[in-house]
Amino acid sequence: MGLKDRPSGTCRSGVVEVNGVQVFAGLLGPEEQAALVEDLRAVVARAPMFVPVTRFGKRMSVSMTSAGKYGWCSGAGGYRYEPRHPSGAPWPPIPERLLALWREVTGLERQPDSCLINYYREGARMGLHQDRDEADFRWPVLSVSLGDDALFRVGTTTRGGPTRSVWLHSGDVAVIGGPARLAYHGIDRIRFGSSWLLPFGGRLNVTLRVVG
Ligand code: SIN
Ligand code: FE2
Repeated sequence: MGLKDRPSGTCRSGVVEVNGVQVFAGLLGPEEQAALVEDLRAVVARAPMFVPVTRFGKRMSVSMTSAGKYGWCSGAGGYRYEPRHPSGAPWPPIPERLLALWREVTGLERQPDSCLINYYREGARMGLHQDRDEADFRWPVLSVSLGDDALFRVGTTTRGGPTRSVWLHSGDVAVIGGPARLAYHGIDRIRFGSSWLLPFGGRLNVTLRVVG
């Protein structure tokens, strides 16, 4: 299936571009969102969420875990991809539904080998950063929003460049790729309790990447 084969009416408002990052608003309908949450629940059961520490030793406000060959980890040694969860167990496989979404949206044969799952509780945010721990920036990063609305800020590829912001809603899918692959981006805040998708509120963000 390709993007154009999606049943009409699924996409509420089409594609929005924010400093080169493409946002497919409302790409995922309610059933697909709920199914993805179930998939992610199964991943978290095997690879529990943990709170990462920045390289400056500060606890992040998001919790995270991963699926796939590589998972993103951080700590005093900096940021890196690891083949294992901090427990020592390998990461669970990336759910098939997410792999299908990657194929559909990117049209790429190459599969992602890393799936980072971030959970934003009330008050959580993520500062402006570049995704640059992957080996080859020709591969895009695909980002899926589930749950509460989030204010997504996108800058240019230079630190301190002008930024633009857009609210991401549950079911939105963003592609950070092409000339915007190294664009600075972050989440200023979430609107806690704005979605019914997650029983305890908050927001899940899933990013699929080619790391190796
Ligand atoms: C990230 O940059 O890793 C997360 C972006 C988001 O939560 O939408
Ligand atoms: Fe990022």
